[in-house]
Amino acid sequence: MRKLLLVAPALLALAACGGSEQSDTPAAEAETATASEATPVASAEMSGESSFAKCTACHKVEKGAPNGVGPNLHGIVGRAVASAEGFAYSPAMKARGGNWDETSLDAYLENPRKVVPGTKMAFAGINDAAERKALIGWLKEQK
Ligand code: HEC
Repeated sequence: MRKLLLVAPALLALAACGGSEQSDTPAAEAETATASEATPVASAEMSGESSFAKCTACHKVEKGAPNGVGPNLHGIVGRAVASAEGFAYSPAMKARGGNWDETSLDAYLENPRKVVPGTKMAFAGINDAAERKALIGWLKEQK
């Protein structure tokens, strides 16, 4: 029994190496190398970007992209509240006024309905403060 348990991982490792065809694709390897070099700088943005996956069912962030269930979020950090052209905001959001900044976005994304009672954004919120920070940082850089 013991021997089998020890041998199994070794076989798995061999199998994992066996099928590699990386040497046939120098271009792909070069891309991979570039991406991993950029990783230390991009890691915070990466987690913000992956967090934005929670929003994409309703929001786009690219400049000029159409509103969906939710308004386009291009330039949202610093943008006037309820200002996406052509989007039908809730009365609560329209009445809020002011601009979104990192502090108000952080509070809204933690608990949308608490910060804007009556908002029609059907999103429970993000509990993890570090994730909200990364997400807001990423949103800020979408230019
Ligand atoms: C289920 C759809 C849905 C999801 C998921 C969602 N939102 Fe929204 N969001 C909306 C809607 C609808 C509004 C408009 C709210 C209103 O008018 O009260 C909105 C409004 C906003 C606003 C205010 C925009 C403005 O122009 O003032 C921000 C900021 C925002 N959402 C960010 C996010 C982020 C970031 C996420 C992901 C973490 C997210 N939302 C997830 C639907 C959604």
